[in-house]
Amino acid sequence: METFPLPSANEKETVVQRMFTSAARAYDINNTVLSFGLHHLWKRLTISLLEIREGQTVVDLCGGTADLSLLAARKSGRTGHVLTMDLNFAMLRIGKEKVEGRTNSRVADSPVVVIQSNAEFLSLKDGSVDRLVVGFGLRNVTHLDIALQEIYRVLKPGGRFACLEFSTPVNGLWRQMYRFYSFALLPSIGKVISGDQTGIYEYLPASIARFPDQETFRSMILRAGFRDVVYRNLSGGIVAIHMGVR
Ligand SMILES: C[S@@+](CC[C@H](N)C(=O)[O-])C[C@H]1O[C@@H](n2cnc3c(N)ncnc32)[C@H](O)[C@@H]1O
Repeated sequence: METFPLPSANEKETVVQRMFTSAARAYDINNTVLSFGLHHLWKRLTISLLEIREGQTVVDLCGGTADLSLLAARKSGRTGHVLTMDLNFAMLRIGKEKVEGRTNSRVADSPVVVIQSNAEFLSLKDGSVDRLVVGFGLRNVTHLDIALQEIYRVLKPGGRFACLEFSTPVNGLWRQMYRFYSFALLPSIGKVISGDQTGIYEYLPASIARFPDQETFRSMILRAGFRDVVYRNLSGGIVAIHMGVR
């Protein structure tokens, strides 16, 4: 199967940001269609595994359209705070619209503040965050090891980190079927729905194929300083949730 050429480290940030700017408006609907709705379940499980408590400060890093932020805000409650941090203005604008569109029944949720910020240079103090979640974000940063160090730096001692990311299906046949779907079908469906011309839905499977597998990523999180690092495969390893404690 043909593989989309991934951008070099020098151009990655510019290329990736151009893609998300183009895809932002159709991003949520495309997520739902391309994952057959499963991303909602994956995200809910990630937030429940993060063990967010009332009153805590939670960062949703690479938070984009704020799905994980809105789920986290229910857990951290009226006395907590959620920060949606992302580099992309167009994605954050949709996230902000969703935050502002919350109904009155959600008055018990935390306020959610959206902040344009690079995951590799977070404008947060050392040890200032109780929980940090990243959904489908770390695959897109230029220097994964630097982003992991930043996550470690901003978490309080005992603070928890959860990363929901595409990974490597564990079963050989399932892996083949998934490869066929993601390389042969997904790009065309994504393009039709979003009208995208930047190649984001070709970049998606290519970047997934290049992302470290479950064990390699676990080692990287350990190397950043985290303890008790574990992961859970979902949908046969199509995605994995990695968790660690600072
Ligand atoms: C696939 S989207 C995920 C959005 C959201 N977390 C979700 O689960 O639906 C990836 C997001 O990562 C953001 N991103 C990529 N590189 C980044 C960086 N260096 N710093 C902050 N955000 C970044 C993109 O702008 C994009 O909004």
